[in-house]
Amino acid sequence: MELQSLKNIAKQLMAGNKGLLAMDESTSTCNKRFQALDIPQTEEYRRKYRELIVTTPRLEEAISGAILFDETIRQSTADGKLFIETLKEKGIVPGIKVDEGAIDMDGFPDEKITEGLDNLHKRLTEYYALGARFAKWRAVITIGNNTPTSGNIKANAFLLARYAIICQEIGMVPIVEPEVLMDGNHSLKTCAEVTTEVLHTVFNQLYQQRVSFEGMILKPNMIVPGLQSPQQDNADAVADATINCFLRCVPASVPGIAFLSGGQSPELASERLNAMHVRFKDKMPWALTFSYSRAVQQPCLEKWGGRDENIAEAQRLLYERAHINTLAREGKYTA
Ligand code: 13P
Repeated sequence: MELQSLKNIAKQLMAGNKGLLAMDESTSTCNKRFQALDIPQTEEYRRKYRELIVTTPRLEEAISGAILFDETIRQSTADGKLFIETLKEKGIVPGIKVDEGAIDMDGFPDEKITEGLDNLHKRLTEYYALGARFAKWRAVITIGNNTPTSGNIKANAFLLARYAIICQEIGMVPIVEPEVLMDGNHSLKTCAEVTTEVLHTVFNQLYQQRVSFEGMILKPNMIVPGLQSPQQDNADAVADATINCFLRCVPASVPGIAFLSGGQSPELASERLNAMHVRFKDKMPWALTFSYSRAVQQPCLEKWGGRDENIAEAQRLLYERAHINTLAREGKYTA
């Protein structure tokens, strides 16, 4: 493993005021989003949509790295150029989602475990040869009456750590994504307690599996109240809870933290990231940015609606949302 080259990739991903674009929806997730908007759920429409994204003018001003999916990394624009080449020409680092999704965890009702470790070394070797320089694995933690259990958190953390060391051995920066879901009526405080436990467990496992913290990126949830909670705390409270938790749990040697949006509205996802930068300017040891899918893509996808005549306007909306988040990363976003 070349630690310096991992550090260089991480640095490129966290550069300036840029963020990552998650465009790694699995076929079933992408189809679900298409279905809601009456867009045909075919490989060609998925390809057209991803072409729209990667050819968005000025995308590279706001986006440092794009996370692709197995289908997408092999696809090309209508004129035959691989998406991965289009991204590289723009200076956007190509990445790849390598987990195979979260399934029900046997023995642990209402909890999920992520699949995908089998043959991972071999799969990553191929992705590296295709040009991917970082990877992503998402673990899902559910807050409920009797969850999460420590058995579930530990199992997910162990898998994240095994995935991460395999990435580093191959020369790819692992994005380690333990997502505490927003679903439920729990409070901000409960989300903070669960996220703290999850992050401590994940970093302990990363250490045990010999992952270099300097050569990884953390992709966490923000600490937010449950979507159905009667008390919806403001952005300042979310910022304080989130950064205070990370200051306790995330080693200073980790170069970057890039949030998932997790179903927050695009506006809230920007407002909360902005509040963190306003309130903790110069107090954070890591770079702090976004790695949103829905909170950057949703307005664009809705505008496109599967129609060629809407592509230019949809691309404008994609760039606008990405750009707004670069302002949030500088603490300069205004609603
Ligand atoms: P969201 O921003 O829509 O949560 O997606 C981020 C992601 O990559 C989920 O794995």
